[in-house]
Amino acid sequence: MTDKIEFIDLKAQYRALKHKVDARIATVLDHGRFIMGPEIAELEQRLAAYVGVEHCIGVASGTEALLIALMALDVGPGDEVITTPFTFAATAEVIALVGATSVFVDIDLADCNIDASLIERAITPATKAIIPVSLYGQCADMDAINAIAARHGVTVIEDAAQSFGATYKGHRSCGVSTIGCTSFFPSKPLGCYGDGGAIFTTDAALAQAMREIRVHGQSKRYQHDRVGVGGRLDTIQAAILLAKLETFEEEVAARVRIGDRYLAMFEGAPGIDVIQVGRDRSSVWGQFTILVEDRTKFVAHLTAAGIPTAIHYPIPLHRQPAYVELCRLAGSQDRAEWAAARAVSLPMHPFLSAELQDRIVEAALKAAQA
Ligand SMILES: Cc1ncc(COP(=O)(O)O)c(C=O)c1O
Repeated sequence: MTDKIEFIDLKAQYRALKHKVDARIATVLDHGRFIMGPEIAELEQRLAAYVGVEHCIGVASGTEALLIALMALDVGPGDEVITTPFTFAATAEVIALVGATSVFVDIDLADCNIDASLIERAITPATKAIIPVSLYGQCADMDAINAIAARHGVTVIEDAAQSFGATYKGHRSCGVSTIGCTSFFPSKPLGCYGDGGAIFTTDAALAQAMREIRVHGQSKRYQHDRVGVGGRLDTIQAAILLAKLETFEEEVAARVRIGDRYLAMFEGAPGIDVIQVGRDRSSVWGQFTILVEDRTKFVAHLTAAGIPTAIHYPIPLHRQPAYVELCRLAGSQDRAEWAAARAVSLPMHPFLSAELQDRIVEAALKAAQA
């Protein structure tokens, strides 16, 4: 068996969807409305219906989605935003960009998401928002987080960049808090062919504010009632997403099946800790990540066996030079540090065959014991 193992196989996905994607792109090239063309509204309607919320706003990236959400909430200097240190930098980057302070709360090692039981004691009069990240494709304890937020009058923004398509207690990720933000970066569960993102909410006033912020704060052409950004989603990316949406549910099912198979095969494996999926939720496995004791050795063994890996994420954000001065630590961050030293992601995409997965697991089991 010599098939090359891809970490994420976007080429296989394009081969499967080529006809639909090419036709959608051709339509845009024909009508020529590359900025805010008709595919944007069509996509927004489809995505809002899929998530089960009133409003979807297509934006330029997942980062832009989070930034626009914070701007709409008027989060700024002197304000605090509670989040996890074990995430991609964009989560804290947007907090810094609006001039607020990230307050880091440690994670729960069962799922590597923010530990909801530690959030309330991190709240101060300066707290404006909480940004739980649905890391690796699974929502955090959103009910508990929403309840804490409601008690203290703060807003919850789900960073769902990795979890579009996941469910939490029968609701879809992006629709489980006041605002949900996702990314369509090509490697995400629903990815486009460049940068893209979307914001979801049922709050009409917030939706209006975010629509205006997306286009330089315009309420109508050349009427700038607020400060905004150039944060639009490209029409071509919307067209590609519309094509991909047609088979997205099948891809989600494949991801869940492949994730479950990994979990079953790693169950009880010495030297490997897996991410646990709550009974009341599903993961779309934006990344399939495990925790191993000696990651350097483990990765070297897999690399020698021709198996690509990635690390999500090697340094928790409170240890990153850019954020050391821009954050406050709400208690110990020991678990985030523990996970950051051990996390390693294995190939995961809907086109991963059982044969290739067997090879990956066999090599991983050996590497963990080596
Ligand atoms: C948790 C998280 N938040 C935010 C982002 C930012 O998304 P984008 O790359 O679309 O700006 C990412 C993407 O990598 C992410 O993984």
